[in-house]
Amino acid sequence: MNPRLALGITFLSIFSVLVACSSHKTKVFNVKKYGAVGNNKTENSKAFMKAWADSCKWRGKSSVFIPKGTYHLESIVLKGPCNGRKEFVIKGMLRSPNQPSSFFIGHWITFQNINNLRIHGGGTLDGQGASAWPYNKCKTGSCKPLPVSLRLDFVNDSEISDIKSLNSKNFHFNLFACNRVKIRRVTLSAPADSPNTDGIHVSSSGNINIDKTVISTGDDCVSIGPGNRDIHITNTFCGPGHGISVGSMGKSGTKEDVTSISVVNCTFRGTLNGVQIKTWPEPKAAGGYATNFTYDNILMENVDNPIFINQQYCPFNLCNPQGSSKIQISNIIFRNIWGTSTTKDAVKLKCSKSNPCHNIALENINLIGPGGVASSSCSNVHGRSRGRQKPPSCLS
Ligand SMILES: *[C@@H]1O[C@H](CO)[C@@H](O)[C@H](O)[C@H]1NC(C)=O
Ligand SMILES: *[C@@H]1O[C@H](CO)[C@@H](O)[C@H](O)[C@H]1NC(C)=O
Ligand SMILES: *[C@@H]1O[C@H](CO)[C@@H](O)[C@H](O)[C@H]1NC(C)=O
Repeated sequence: MNPRLALGITFLSIFSVLVACSSHKTKVFNVKKYGAVGNNKTENSKAFMKAWADSCKWRGKSSVFIPKGTYHLESIVLKGPCNGRKEFVIKGMLRSPNQPSSFFIGHWITFQNINNLRIHGGGTLDGQGASAWPYNKCKTGSCKPLPVSLRLDFVNDSEISDIKSLNSKNFHFNLFACNRVKIRRVTLSAPADSPNTDGIHVSSSGNINIDKTVISTGDDCVSIGPGNRDIHITNTFCGPGHGISVGSMGKSGTKEDVTSISVVNCTFRGTLNGVQIKTWPEPKAAGGYATNFTYDNILMENVDNPIFINQQYCPFNLCNPQGSSKIQISNIIFRNIWGTSTTKDAVKLKCSKSNPCHNIALENINLIGPGGVASSSCSNVHGRSRGRQKPPSCLS
């Protein structure tokens, strides 16, 4: 045979094998085959865990499938590592327990140590938070854990899309030590007065993209904790809620950095804060830095504190307010931010006395306060302003 032709045929057959493998059908593990019953009564955690274990072991693409129906589910941990790409397809409604005996554990549905996971399907996680919120005593300083609805721990190269989370008892989603995770077209909701129901809390993670997500909740819509880099939030709606926050940072004895954050093309409506960076005035903390953040193209509608750097963050007076934060904030751009503020103080840049903020930029700001009046205030900030400035900038 002509060697060129032989080579061609070899390539062709390798190619066909690859195509055959990648188009190989996803093996489906339906929770109903494992005894799950979606009758809004039966407890289903054993069936879910067995279906997950078999899907995880399966060599190749596979999915756990949850058909329509309402499935009661105690707290479960679904562990990897698994063989190949895994899906968790929620068509139905998963309902968390409403008995106090099941409350004081920090998680409801947890995925751990998994690569290539996709959670989707159009279904709902119902956290039944109203049954547990009265047990939240965090304001008094004795904070027993309540279940986070969905936890991802050590999960890489994954995606959560097209699901809803309703009335979580604690945070809706929590990502810890995750890399390259996309969250898209997700709807999170809980009442404005529900305690600690952050939408998405991310810590010690990298390359997380949150896109086209709608968050209406009682605490931060997104909170970006210590140890994060490359967290990008786009086309997201927040309200009610406490805004999109970086922090709180600088309370503990471990060094805490947050770098490369962006919030672009987002809307805030009726929220406590818009975009916020908060650090504790704790002089004994180990320090760290918050740098390279971009906030661009953001609409604020009736927001109490639209632009807020708060290095005197001290909820419930749990610190010495005369202290000075050891977190160094730098390279922050607030650009094209417009709309209405419910308070006069539309722009507040309160930086640390011992570690002043530097390279802070305000570009094209157009925020209107009550009665058309608004102001900006700066302390310990170095930076510049450009373009339109309403309120007049407190930076030179
Ligand atoms: C995810 O990535 C991190 C950092 O690259 C790695 O340490 C961790 O083991 C990975 N997780 C899994 C489940 O492979
Ligand atoms: C934000 O919106 C603008 C204008 O609609 C668009 O050009 C840009 O690509 C968007 N950016 C992102 C990151 O979605
Ligand atoms: C911040 O951005 C600058 C300019 O792009 C880059 O040189 C620097 O390494 C970044 N800092 C961090 C900690 O990523």
